[in-house]
Amino acid sequence: MVGASHGFALVAPASRGLGLAFAQKLLTKTELPVVATARNDCAEVRDRILNGNNMPSNAERRLRLLKVDVKDESTISSMADIIRRDYPDTPLRLALTVPGILHIEKSPSQIDAASALESFQVNALGPLLLMKHLSQFLPAKSAPEFQRTSKTEADGESQLELPSHAVYAMMAARVGSVSDNSSGGWYSYRASKASVFQLAKTFDLYLRSKSGKRALAVALHPGTVRTDFTQDFWKGREMLDPLDSAERLLEFIIGMSPDVEGGRGKCWDWKGEEVYP
Ligand SMILES: NC(=O)c1ccc[n+]([C@@H]2O[C@H](COP(=O)([O-])OP(=O)(O)OC[C@H]3O[C@@H](n4cnc5c(N)ncnc54)[C@H](OP(=O)(O)O)[C@@H]3O)[C@@H](O)[C@H]2O)c1
Repeated sequence: MVGASHGFALVAPASRGLGLAFAQKLLTKTELPVVATARNDCAEVRDRILNGNNMPSNAERRLRLLKVDVKDESTISSMADIIRRDYPDTPLRLALTVPGILHIEKSPSQIDAASALESFQVNALGPLLLMKHLSQFLPAKSAPEFQRTSKTEADGESQLELPSHAVYAMMAARVGSVSDNSSGGWYSYRASKASVFQLAKTFDLYLRSKSGKRALAVALHPGTVRTDFTQDFWKGREMLDPLDSAERLLEFIIGMSPDVEGGRGKCWDWKGEEVYP
């Protein structure tokens, strides 16, 4: 495992689907310590992550599971307390916040207030509160650059070429784009995910002044991915494998320039194409 100055990576949550895939990719394709969260069964989720293919021998030592339910802010602040205590002087280098739920509403009459509120709590307030408690770990303008890493092979996996700045990514969804909305429906999911575009932009503006070129924020769209989330639509549809989507997104975000023209603050899909708000 690398020293504190190399930073740590974080995936919240990592219990299944894309979060699980991101945690596995970070363990196999970087040397960073990885903090992963789950709202239940941390021991089981830990095993699930470590059961991935090509896990290096140090993966167990590098992986830390912390219990977080984004509907309960106290669990998020406890996570931050533990990180401050157990990873002293270790900046957050790569963060992926991906909580998401979908309550399907095809017409306005199907909207249920409690379900819609839950969608906003998980999909919009979730990333907002994670950002609130994690922003303290991102490097300040005056912080030294991270040492770039090179694309060497380790345990049969080519390593990610990590840049000298930090990247904070939040999972949005193309369905949250107002300009892309041509089919309607899914009111609360669309509206809650639309807010992630705004959160990424607003947080990035904060980082431009606090961190300069040492950190940037982006929103992401993973493509249509074969996870529990999409299982009602699996039949007859081509979908991305979560590990492929996670790898494409990681490759893209670590390749982004921290310059304003480099696309920071915007939403990008797994192919590296912009998703307009
Ligand atoms: N799959 C796609 O095609 C697709 C497309 C566009 C965007 N997305 C977005 O990508 C993200 C990941 O989706 P996925 O496909 O991996 O879905 P998934 O397999 O259904 O995973 C959803 C994740 O959200 C977590 N979650 C739900 N409620 C939570 C809460 N209160 N606190 C903390 N975590 C909570 C789940 O944890 P538990 O295991 O504890 O339930 C699970 O880890 C979501 O934000 C989704 O909107 C997915």
